[in-house]
Amino acid sequence: MDTVLDMREMMAAGRETTATAGVRKVDRDRRTTVGMPFVEDPRMVCREVNVYYGDKHAIRNVSIDVGKNEVLAMIGPSGCGKSTFLRCLNRMNDTVAGCRVSGEILLDELNIYDKRVDVVPLRAQVGMVFQKPNPFPKSIFDNVAYGPKIHGLVSGKSELADVVEDSLKKAGLWNEVSDRLDQPGTGLSGGQQQRLCIARAIAVRPEVILMDEPCSALDPIATATVEDLITELRTHYTIVIVTHNMQQAARVSQRTAYFHLGDLVEVGPTDRLFTNPRHQLTEDYITGRFG
Ligand SMILES: Nc1ncnc2c1ncn2[C@@H]1O[C@H](COP(=O)(O)OP(=O)(O)OP(=O)(O)O)[C@@H](O)[C@H]1O
Ligand SMILES: [Mg+2]
Repeated sequence: MDTVLDMREMMAAGRETTATAGVRKVDRDRRTTVGMPFVEDPRMVCREVNVYYGDKHAIRNVSIDVGKNEVLAMIGPSGCGKSTFLRCLNRMNDTVAGCRVSGEILLDELNIYDKRVDVVPLRAQVGMVFQKPNPFPKSIFDNVAYGPKIHGLVSGKSELADVVEDSLKKAGLWNEVSDRLDQPGTGLSGGQQQRLCIARAIAVRPEVILMDEPCSALDPIATATVEDLITELRTHYTIVIVTHNMQQAARVSQRTAYFHLGDLVEVGPTDRLFTNPRHQLTEDYITGRFG
């Protein structure tokens, strides 16, 4: 906890935490996150989060904030815990057998792990977009309309149609599908399907959108479209994106978090983290020496 307080003080002083000169880049004590894990006006606050799969300690004492209207990128070698940590943010790990989460995660003021929290509306507030586009086997219209209907967010057919149109517009898909809303969502191209899934997430008025490698199944043109969309969505939403593509992290995010073997090693402004990493492990990863 002292570490957290120290970091808060340094944040208040407008500085990033860093190892002292003599140990910089050789500091292999991974228990302390270096850089800037906290922000002044957070939307989500995560403190001392640990995740276990049975005996396996998959996330170790991670503390980080997610800022309002920011895109936070999470990077790191395969198996380091990026998806595990992402799933903590809307309690998707609740659905994984043998998975146990401890620590505190707040959405605005709400402790999302409080026993009284209903995960169904929580997962609308903190929506998720997966690696492989997964539209429902329904029409394009019904894919987007489903959430607002089951969450009781609309009062009639015309309001529902407005929400569907607005969500498809925000997801940059409306112009391509407005004349075939009754056709199956699964009949769209991969990039269109992913934007449909983003429209589906937007339709239930989320505050935060979690994306786990949302472009890894897409070609470069569809990837560019989704990246442009992420940049536009930031004006309305908070976005946390896991990516293996460091150029993508650099293009879309304002802060980047580097995970290594379950530890949150370093968090920093994206430009700084890629040009001047504070931790040896981050440097090894971004220069291709590891992972
Ligand atoms: N359901 C599960 N049961 C047991 N162990 C799991 C489970 N899911 C993940 N793990 C383990 O937890 C660790 C973190 O996995 P996770 O999927 O979060 O990594 P990741 O960083 O997302 O990797 P990738 O980049 O390959 O997607 C790994 O060691 C993984 O084997
Ligand atoms: Mg993963």
